[in-house]
Amino acid sequence: MTKSNEYTDSSRATVNRRSFLKGSGAVAAATALHSPAVEAEPQAAANVVSGATTITLNVNGGDHKVTVEPRTTLLEALRSQLELTGAKPVSSDGSSGASTVLVDGKPVMASTTLAMAVTGKNIETVESLGGEDTDAVPRAFVKHDAQQCGFCTPGFVVAVRALLNKNPDATESQIRQGLNGNICRCGTYNNIIKAALDVVKGGV
Ligand code: FES
Repeated sequence: MTKSNEYTDSSRATVNRRSFLKGSGAVAAATALHSPAVEAEPQAAANVVSGATTITLNVNGGDHKVTVEPRTTLLEALRSQLELTGAKPVSSDGSSGASTVLVDGKPVMASTTLAMAVTGKNIETVESLGGEDTDAVPRAFVKHDAQQCGFCTPGFVVAVRALLNKNPDATESQIRQGLNGNICRCGTYNNIIKAALDVVKGGV
């Protein structure tokens, strides 16, 4: 084989490989265009939200408009836009329990819940337990001096309310177990348990 032939053969081989790859790509593209997964993509893309969006949150029985980004937490929306500062930003991972609120009656950490994820749901904050007709749980906390710095207190109050809504006759053991997602750095646990048990007994 001459040098010239080698070049020619090599070029042909290159062209042939390129042609083959281009052809394969075209086939793959043609196949992909007709695959259900790709056809579904434009629909999925239409549901992607980016940037600031105004949504409605139902908080403490009323609808409120807030402007949030996809990354905005419920805690940020409550505190920064609705001025409901009872839930506290103690732990961004929710491990302290200080940001506890109720969503459709269930306790959740507002610090780890995206605001957009709770549109159409009933959100209740600790503020809903105060006012003229103060709930028995915060009254019991006052009666039993169940707080020191108070930073954990709103989370505990909401957690106790959720627990007793579910089990009004909770025992001390059940209360201790039910509150194990909330942390008090000041160590007021005994008085918190006393307060919760007093509510169970109807003492407040
Ligand atoms: S009262 Fe201070 S953290 Fe609980």
